[in-house]
Amino acid sequence: MNNIILQTIKKRRSTRVYTQQPLGETELKQILEAGVYAPSGMNYQTWHFTAIISGEKLHKLNELIRKAFAKSEEKKLQERGNNPDYCCYYHAPALVIVSNEPTQWWAPMDCACAIENMFLAATSLGVASCWINQLGQTCDDEEVRNYITSLGIPANHKVYGCVALGYADETVSPKEKILKDDTINIVR
Ligand SMILES: Cc1cc2nc3c(=O)[nH]c(=O)nc-3n(C[C@H](O)[C@H](O)[C@H](O)COP(=O)(O)O)c2cc1C
Repeated sequence: MNNIILQTIKKRRSTRVYTQQPLGETELKQILEAGVYAPSGMNYQTWHFTAIISGEKLHKLNELIRKAFAKSEEKKLQERGNNPDYCCYYHAPALVIVSNEPTQWWAPMDCACAIENMFLAATSLGVASCWINQLGQTCDDEEVRNYITSLGIPANHKVYGCVALGYADETVSPKEKILKDDTINIVR
């Protein structure tokens, strides 16, 4: 197969072990540009992309997410919250927070399109990535919200997903990708 897009789609995998090599700023900007080129319902483009490349700020964000989880009624979340080693972004050197106005029902779809664009752009540039959901679950916790507001996330936005970015630790091989059967039907 020599179609570069199809090759990139198949090559993309979720990476959960990163080296500490900082993400190149040129790569980050290209990845963000791929995000804003995604389609959006009615072309509203009401989304916002907040890229954090400060290890200190990422650590602080993770601590607040952990604190929010610790308050949860759900046992699994509580366990994460009380685990000092829990890092929702896998210590990646960069995290892009994708937020949107929740007023349109398709707001999460807009964000998902942008996120997949960023994943594919990252893959094509040799940058590893992973979808990170935990800020979506906690963005309305008071302390988390105050902090993300201080990072520039619009106060009327919800977080629909985050993209961890960095360089894969090549000593860890990705799990084999096993596709479910019978998920495609062509009706003639
Ligand atoms: C909506 C969505 C949310 C996800 N949330 C997380 C997450 O919070 N943490 C994580 O490690 N992976 C997360 N993933 C990644 C999936 O686990 C991953 O895509 C799936 O296991 C298939 O593996 P692959 O991406 O390597 O093909 C998420 C993926 C999607 C689409």
